[in-house]
Amino acid sequence: MASEGKEKVLAGFAESFGDTEGVRVFFAPGRVNLIGEHTDYNGGHVFPCALDIGCYAAVRKREDRTLRFASVNIPRAGITEVEIDDLDSARTGKWADYPKGVVWAFEGRGFKLDRGFDMAIYGDIPNGAGLSSSAALEVVTGYALRALYGFDQVTNQDLAFIGQYSENNYNGMNCGIMDQFASAMGKENNAIFLDTNTMVFEYAPVKLDGMKLVITNTNKKHSLVDSEYNARRAQCAQALKDMQARYDIKALGELSIEEFEEGKDLITDPVCRRRAKHAVYENQRTIQAVQALKDGDIEKFGKLMNQSHVSLRDDYETSCPEADILAEEAWKLPGVLGSRITGGGFGGCTVSIVKNEEVQEFIDRIGPVYREKVGYDASFYLLGIGNGPCEL
Ligand code: GLA
Repeated sequence: MASEGKEKVLAGFAESFGDTEGVRVFFAPGRVNLIGEHTDYNGGHVFPCALDIGCYAAVRKREDRTLRFASVNIPRAGITEVEIDDLDSARTGKWADYPKGVVWAFEGRGFKLDRGFDMAIYGDIPNGAGLSSSAALEVVTGYALRALYGFDQVTNQDLAFIGQYSENNYNGMNCGIMDQFASAMGKENNAIFLDTNTMVFEYAPVKLDGMKLVITNTNKKHSLVDSEYNARRAQCAQALKDMQARYDIKALGELSIEEFEEGKDLITDPVCRRRAKHAVYENQRTIQAVQALKDGDIEKFGKLMNQSHVSLRDDYETSCPEADILAEEAWKLPGVLGSRITGGGFGGCTVSIVKNEEVQEFIDRIGPVYREKVGYDASFYLLGIGNGPCEL
């Protein structure tokens, strides 16, 4: 997979910028979140893992202060060109704003580029699938900058924070830290149990003896993600403010279920109350799920995944009818231990744990039902849990 990605991005570089003399190639993965959804900006826990698909960058320094970007995936977008010193006012709302934002964020932290570069990008994460192609693009850009410009003091965790900072402040998407952290810190066959309140994390081996992770893409075209996402954040902030009248807390993730239930009437708006309920319960579910995985109790892990979906559907309202069909059909199958929508929501993918011998059955059963109810096909991916970024 990696060698194919490398070849494609090098070919793209040659096509856009002439030749590949002296070009270096880097990779950063996408991610899937197993449980702990919409908890990362509420000071809660998340449990994502890096995937073995992601974003490839072929990069070469230039002699002047120009940055040029080309995408193998979107050739019709052509080459985007910008001067390093003009980045602040060079937002266009197009794809190249992601790598541009990362350069801008490096510069803002005092990591100044002495010269510009040419960069070609190729991604094998399906577009709009909610598997963090943007975080992978941010992390691979940061990783390449560190390598090319000798910013050796920048750690992989810093790459995650810089990616999030640029997405928040250059791209206007108020995302939490989960996606960039999973991409920058990924470890093969492990998920990352991260407390976003303290940033303390541990790796937990994902041992699914006789089972597979199946990722199912709704293939829904969605556009409201950013505005709805930012609205959820505002609702949680309001709920936190209300709860602070009684509790000395900085984030909803600090509340136990008992504390939430005792204090919830302080949250006057019923919508904000439901959002907070999800944030508090989902955080506790995530802690329990990781314990279950450590205990080898995949059945319990799966049940918590199902509860997570119900909560995202009913209380947080970031699911969508398409993902509900996928999850609810999956729950009917005996070979499925758990299934839920993953990522920001309003489309994207579900993640399911399925017994090996039932995977084909899963695809054969759910595929046609989905097509009949939705009118177009879902896609099924069997992906591995991969490492963080690297040079190829
Ligand atoms: C998006 C954001 C993450 C996280 C998830 C929901 O992927 O980028 O920070 O909030 O949604 O869990």
